[in-house]
Amino acid sequence: MKIAVFGLGYVGFTGMCCMAKQGHEVIGFDVSAPKVEAINAGRSPITEPGVDELLTEGLAKGLISAHTSIGDRLAGCDMAIVCVGTPSAPDGSHNMTYIAEVSRQIAQALPEGGSITVVYRSTIRPGSMEHLISPIFEGVMGARFDAEVELVYNPEFLREGSAIKDYFQPPKIVVGTKDGSPSARMNALNEGLDAPIFNIPFAESQLTKFVDNTWHAVKVAFANEVGRICLQLGLSAQTVHEIFISDTKLNISPYYLRPGGAFGGSCLPKDVRALQFIANDSGANTQLINSLLNSNEAHKYRLFQHAVKGLKPGAKVLLAGLAFKADTDDLRESPNIDLARNLLREGYELSVFDPAVEPRNLVGANLGYAFTTLPELSKIFVSREKAESMQFDRVIVTNATGKKITLPKGQDVVNLGSLA
Ligand SMILES: NC(=O)c1ccc[n+]([C@@H]2O[C@H](COP(=O)([O-])OP(=O)(O)OC[C@H]3O[C@@H](n4cnc5c(N)ncnc54)[C@H](O)[C@@H]3O)[C@@H](O)[C@H]2O)c1
Repeated sequence: MKIAVFGLGYVGFTGMCCMAKQGHEVIGFDVSAPKVEAINAGRSPITEPGVDELLTEGLAKGLISAHTSIGDRLAGCDMAIVCVGTPSAPDGSHNMTYIAEVSRQIAQALPEGGSITVVYRSTIRPGSMEHLISPIFEGVMGARFDAEVELVYNPEFLREGSAIKDYFQPPKIVVGTKDGSPSARMNALNEGLDAPIFNIPFAESQLTKFVDNTWHAVKVAFANEVGRICLQLGLSAQTVHEIFISDTKLNISPYYLRPGGAFGGSCLPKDVRALQFIANDSGANTQLINSLLNSNEAHKYRLFQHAVKGLKPGAKVLLAGLAFKADTDDLRESPNIDLARNLLREGYELSVFDPAVEPRNLVGANLGYAFTTLPELSKIFVSREKAESMQFDRVIVTNATGKKITLPKGQDVVNLGSLA
């Protein structure tokens, strides 16, 4: 393919070299004249292992050229890939000035009657395609836009320092289009790359990149907080780390990562609280760990709002699943108890059922907790027969429901157990 790349920084320049290696003809554009001159003279504008060799090879084969102005160079291009910067604005949002400018420049330079895929690789927030980029193209090109331009969002997952390896062996390829359908030209570009491909709508493809980077930041911050606690307590951070990462079943795994119910039960809240105490007591100052219980409370409240959306107080509600998870009758610190309490407080006519709970059989701390936090339990708890046959205005299914109840057809069900 003939591919134009806009923005020859870490992402654009590396991409340019790698695409030339794949045999594509790549024309690069950057507003920085020194960068453009360096590239054409065979000097990499960035420091990145392996790019010098790829640049030399690409220039020798006549597959790489760089320019400061577009002119009529988009004629015959199959693809334009936008890699301009999106630095932080003062309020923390992305500064979209360069994206807006380059979009207008591309739209103005596209030759009439052509057909091009314009791919955005810069990191941009959900909604940018619909509310910023498409209107710019439409404003400049009018009816030609729909006929001649395919817009794609394709987040970049390369890491500086291993950018070439990451280009050829990406962890995944995400292709966002207007309706989530695959793009033929993106498929051609990604041919030979061994990675799972996700063809999805724009907004999810854009959020994906933020979620990844924020997750990586959470991992680093968490690891460092654990390291700080170890330092403060005079313990070996290395030993704790080795044991932590050796657990690929529960720790480094998809477990505990699906959006759904809040955490609860007799261990997680208690032990997070205790580690928070140890960290504060020893001066480790663990901001991330300290934020977990607040985040969990915020989530419980949001799930309550989600559960009663569209319902009026007085409506008949069945809460199916009361324990902190399925197949246990442990009610201690169950988020579903908090939910039941909220539902009662807000005036809903609440019935509760849990296949694993029998209020008469609760004993010890479990009984004490239930009695303190939900004294109405024995009055509002209904039998399986009632739960499965009565008509409710809303049935709230939780992570504790399991798959063990059969609801009559036509029930209005909200599933809080999984948002994914
Ligand atoms: N650096 C990374 O490791 C990395 C990884 C994944 C995603 N990203 C994202 O990719 C985007 C680019 O990042 P980067 O680190 O390569 O940025 P960068 O600052 O190194 O490069 C951006 C380039 O765009 C050029 N530019 C600005 N306006 C232009 C225009 N109108 N026409 C042509 N060129 C223009 C700038 O001169 C600059 O050379 C950002 O959105 C970033 O968040 C970066």
